[in-house]
Amino acid sequence: MKTTASTIPFKEIKADVLIVPVFEGDSPQAGILAELNAATGGQVALAFERGEISPKRDRWTLLDSRGGISAARLLVYGAGSSAGIGPVSVQRLAGAAARIADQKAASSAAIFLSSVLSTVEFAQAAAEGATLGVLTPDFYVTKDDDAPHRLEEFAVASNSLSEGSLSEAVERGALMAEATNFARELGFAPSNDMTPSELARRAEEMASREGLQYEALGEDRMKQMGMGALLAVSRGSQEPARLIVLRYESGDRGVGAAVPAGKSDRELIALIGKGITFDSGGISIKPALNMEEMKYDMGGGAAVIGAMQILARLRPNARVLGLVPASENLPSGRAFKPGDVIRSLSGKTIEVANTDAEGRLVLCDAITYAIEQGATMLVDAATLTGAVVVALGEVRAAVMGNDDELIKSLVAAGERSGERVWPLPMDKEYVDLIKSDIADIRNAGNRTGGSITAGWFLRHFVGETPWAHLDIAGTAWTEREKPYIAKGATGFGTRLLANFVIERARSKN
Ligand code: BES
Ligand code: MN
Ligand code: ZN
Repeated sequence: MKTTASTIPFKEIKADVLIVPVFEGDSPQAGILAELNAATGGQVALAFERGEISPKRDRWTLLDSRGGISAARLLVYGAGSSAGIGPVSVQRLAGAAARIADQKAASSAAIFLSSVLSTVEFAQAAAEGATLGVLTPDFYVTKDDDAPHRLEEFAVASNSLSEGSLSEAVERGALMAEATNFARELGFAPSNDMTPSELARRAEEMASREGLQYEALGEDRMKQMGMGALLAVSRGSQEPARLIVLRYESGDRGVGAAVPAGKSDRELIALIGKGITFDSGGISIKPALNMEEMKYDMGGGAAVIGAMQILARLRPNARVLGLVPASENLPSGRAFKPGDVIRSLSGKTIEVANTDAEGRLVLCDAITYAIEQGATMLVDAATLTGAVVVALGEVRAAVMGNDDELIKSLVAAGERSGERVWPLPMDKEYVDLIKSDIADIRNAGNRTGGSITAGWFLRHFVGETPWAHLDIAGTAWTEREKPYIAKGATGFGTRLLANFVIERARSKN
């Protein structure tokens, strides 16, 4: 879908559907509704009287404009109270309305931002929400020639913002959502397609298109280096593992800032995403119910790849390493087993209590690799524990770490991007649960505090480097369709990670 900005008078907007949000307290006798009412021969007031138009959230009606305006149809969409309006509610409003326009066979739609909605922040949110809203995960459905056409063009319209600032906001919103949709696409793809090598290929394709450095380590390299934890997870599978490495570096170092080649005094942020393309649990096999969803166990990796695309396009002043340890987790005669002791890249030995706690194993080697590569700050995103789904559901991801400032800035970036996170505590007492009698550490505790013991496991590998961990197991996938988004992969973390880097770059300059 093409997303554009429009500043022409709203009556002249040419679109199959003109989306008009209606708030509590709006009346057909005032503002844009009054103008539309006059232009459509009193239709708007009539629909109000009948109760067909309602400001209640997610109530909507579609009216024919009868030639009174340039748009063919009017979608009057209930936006609730304008008091608590924020970027997240605007994203959802635009997403839901765009989905309706799409389902009603419109090929073009425009959302008109009047009064409180007419800000650059909301223009970005509208473009973002609409782009996310129209993604339909029918990638594998056979094309039907008789199917109604889909939404191809979406305009964000305002009669009070300047052309320049409106287009910039719309472009930014579309770019954020396109990268998120890219991550969602990777998450929706079944594991017979989305293998570790295919994930690497998709990352490479993106990197060469967007101008990022790309490299992928294969299993031979991993063996040479000693990545015993990542390799242990991969052993049971016929599909070879990959460690995907993406690099972003802004060119401009400023005046007089020459640094010898290969060295840098600038910080290097590593974004690390769990890339398990299918998690059966391995020998500690999962129950069959919903196991098919474990194709999205590379959601953290997808978010990192998506975030790197955003950085490549917006070019903040930063150096970023994007790492995705990618593997399958399957049982077989070669698979790693409960009780095995493995040696990680860091040299630390790990007793495998449960082969289903595989995410932390692939991540710990990626963390050590990041530190070896000179990372001065680490942020990982992973669909790591079922426990976080129970604790926080689909609404917020958990954040943990060893640096309060870093955690705070991730919480703040989350509030702004709509991908919200909430801190979990990391008291020392929790570490006792993953002490091993035979090795340096165990990969699983008991049933209590599961998300926190997983966090503590990772913390053993980060040393003094500032680090934060996002457990996105609950937020990377939605069990039900929402008015504003299809059910399934959400791309959660894409915008959060990118915004985090962008805001950090801005605050440091
Ligand atoms: N990928 C799962 C976590 C998960 C669960 C993601 C539900 C999305 C939805 C992870 O690898 C896992 O299996 N974790 C185990 C850890 C346990 C064995 C210590 C879990 O949470 O049960
Ligand atoms: Mn698992
Ligand atoms: Zn997993």
